[in-house]
Amino acid sequence: MSTSSPLSTIIYTRSPPSLKILNQLLLPHKTVYEVITNVQDGYDQIKQMRVRGAPAIGIVAALSLAVDLLSQCSNQTNPIFKDQESLKSYIKSSLDHLKTSRPTAVNLFRASDILWDITEKENDVNIIIEKLVKEAEKMLIDDIRDNNNIGKFGAEFLAKENQDERISVVTHCNTGSLATAGYGTALGIIRSLYSLSKLSHVYFTETRPYNQGARLTAYELIHDNIPNTLICDSMVSALLSLNKDNIKAIIVGADRVASNGDTANKIGTYQLAITAKYHNKMFIVAAPSTSIDLNIKSGKDIIIEERDDNEIIYVSGIVKNNENGELEIKKVRLPPEGVKVWNPSFDVTPAKLITAIVTEKGVITKNSGTNEFNLSDFLK
Ligand code: MRU
Repeated sequence: MSTSSPLSTIIYTRSPPSLKILNQLLLPHKTVYEVITNVQDGYDQIKQMRVRGAPAIGIVAALSLAVDLLSQCSNQTNPIFKDQESLKSYIKSSLDHLKTSRPTAVNLFRASDILWDITEKENDVNIIIEKLVKEAEKMLIDDIRDNNNIGKFGAEFLAKENQDERISVVTHCNTGSLATAGYGTALGIIRSLYSLSKLSHVYFTETRPYNQGARLTAYELIHDNIPNTLICDSMVSALLSLNKDNIKAIIVGADRVASNGDTANKIGTYQLAITAKYHNKMFIVAAPSTSIDLNIKSGKDIIIEERDDNEIIYVSGIVKNNENGELEIKKVRLPPEGVKVWNPSFDVTPAKLITAIVTEKGVITKNSGTNEFNLSDFLK
């Protein structure tokens, strides 16, 4: 199992066991794949955001455990495979460790729960490893299929709601191939609209502080030749107020959707939903069902990750070629010493502000007169 597009985030093979991720800290300037040979490598790459995006981090966590186990399998002297108890305890502590890498996206926790369920049910070392590896591989395959369906359902919904006219949209963060196993969620809908000739233009935010938009979404849109314009996060209300280019919707992804539809996504999403409502535009959340957390009733229960101050204090970019003529990526400090910084990575958009949630199973809207979605019934 292997892919080779410039947008491939995850490259995996079972035999020989190999997992590589595209380093998203270096994009769009450099294409470097990082090798993951064990659980600790997987944890580090996720924590440092070399790989990011809710679906991608769940899959990379699962596959890092898979390659770890497969590699250790070929080493017959390793004690963890002596009996099922030591294997189970290794898997448990590995999953617990992976879960502490990033707290908000539910995909990581869901992937981990699925792998633990499989482990707990079996009693044979070889069967546990075989089943766990197969399940991790399935997550990679299923995510691409699910994203294609999200793209299809979302594009059809938007085309129908807009009487089949060509529309423009706004998006935030990066929700494309780089954030998933392939194709993307919100960006998948945009790709589908474009392939159906229903898209005029996409405006996308730079998405401070990590600049997923300016660096990663830009890279994907240019790769696919989709007509696009980069704007600062603070420009969206001004853009919508001008009624430019027949903008009809803001489309975003999700890190965790509660059962009532409240949605945690990249910081800045909430203010986009408010301005969409004010300007009478649709606000669409695109998410695979792996991003829906039916265990929580509302967004109040979502833990919001707070990240390092330095992500706000410093910006990085190419500043010069070094002596060897190679591209050099450097960090530059913006504020003076002594400032205080608050860096929440996500915010929660209340269901009230969301027009529709697009999943691989279809599009869910709210019953008229209600402010919440009934995702439990929809996913049954
Ligand atoms: O901090 P990140 O870059 O992992 O955050 C990513 C987002 O918020 C995405 O919008 C979300 O994970 C959906 S990706 C399909």
